[in-house]
Amino acid sequence: LVNNMPNFENEIKVAAQRVNRNLQKAFVCEENGYKTLADAMNYSLSIGGKRIRPIILHEFYKLCGGEGEFSENFESALEMIHTYSLIHDDLPCMDDDDFRRGKPSCHKIFGEDFAVLAGDALLTEAFHYASKTENINSKNVLDAITVLAKCAGINGMVGGQVMDILGEKNENVTLETVKKTYALKTGALIVAAAQIGCILAGGYDKINYATEYATSVGLAFQIVDDILDIKSTAEVLGKPIGSDEKNSKKTFVTFYGLERCEEMVDKLTASALLALDNIGGNVEFLKHLAGYLAKRNY
Ligand code: IPE
Ligand code: IPE
Ligand code: MG
Ligand code: MG
Ligand code: MG
Repeated sequence: LVNNMPNFENEIKVAAQRVNRNLQKAFVCEENGYKTLADAMNYSLSIGGKRIRPIILHEFYKLCGGEGEFSENFESALEMIHTYSLIHDDLPCMDDDDFRRGKPSCHKIFGEDFAVLAGDALLTEAFHYASKTENINSKNVLDAITVLAKCAGINGMVGGQVMDILGEKNENVTLETVKKTYALKTGALIVAAAQIGCILAGGYDKINYATEYATSVGLAFQIVDDILDIKSTAEVLGKPIGSDEKNSKKTFVTFYGLERCEEMVDKLTASALLALDNIGGNVEFLKHLAGYLAKRNY
């Protein structure tokens, strides 16, 4: 990758800050009887993460000619759904992990009951907030909501989480099963980001290549997550390492080993870049993002 974006590290920081500002606006919870619930939702949402899904959404929105901040409700909605997925993923009945984003997991602070409910409410609020999008044609908003629902639900992220759980301690899990699991549990929300960005800007003709990019980036993203689960440290990662082994999960690393997994990440990143070349326009940031995610250490 030619380094014609020397300030990329700074640009992604600025992009994440913009997402954080929008999330703060999104989450003005009025005083009601459920302050602890709002606190639990806010806790997990505001301790932050990389914010890559909203960032990808916004980039495709701009790439397709979208102007202004009209995609922001969907960006915040997507991050709410992603955050809910993490809260539930960490529960004792799921991966049983005590740390997330460098802090105790939601259920360690607020209890399992509130963690379940905070996830439920984040998911629901996400659709509420997305539906309040203004200044974009309502047909496009409806299409975007359809994508969001499909990618988050039984044929998307939740379906992938189900496959992930069924795969634990299961001798019959094949590489094909794991691939499908990753496409759903992790790929689906990243694909949603790319597709929704296009749709909100009316760039329906760019959806196919955007999907290609996001599919490759999504698979690479989860393979890197598996590698880091072995190679990183809890301090750097902000979440426990060794979670997959603890839960007897078969991952890409189980099948291929670390070295071949790293090669696969590079190949997937190269296909992501190719998809961008087919879209054309100012794709520099998205190119660097793919490379950055492949080489990330948290
Ligand atoms: C973690 O997602 C869960 C996976 C899908 C691998 P991220 O790595 O995007 O987590 P945050 O949002 O930065 O904390
Ligand atoms: C996460 O996969 C997928 C989700 C939809 C949350 P992991 O279980 O590997 O994610 P981490 O490692 O806990 O972030
Ligand atoms: Mg999991
Ligand atoms: Mg997990
Ligand atoms: Mg993981």
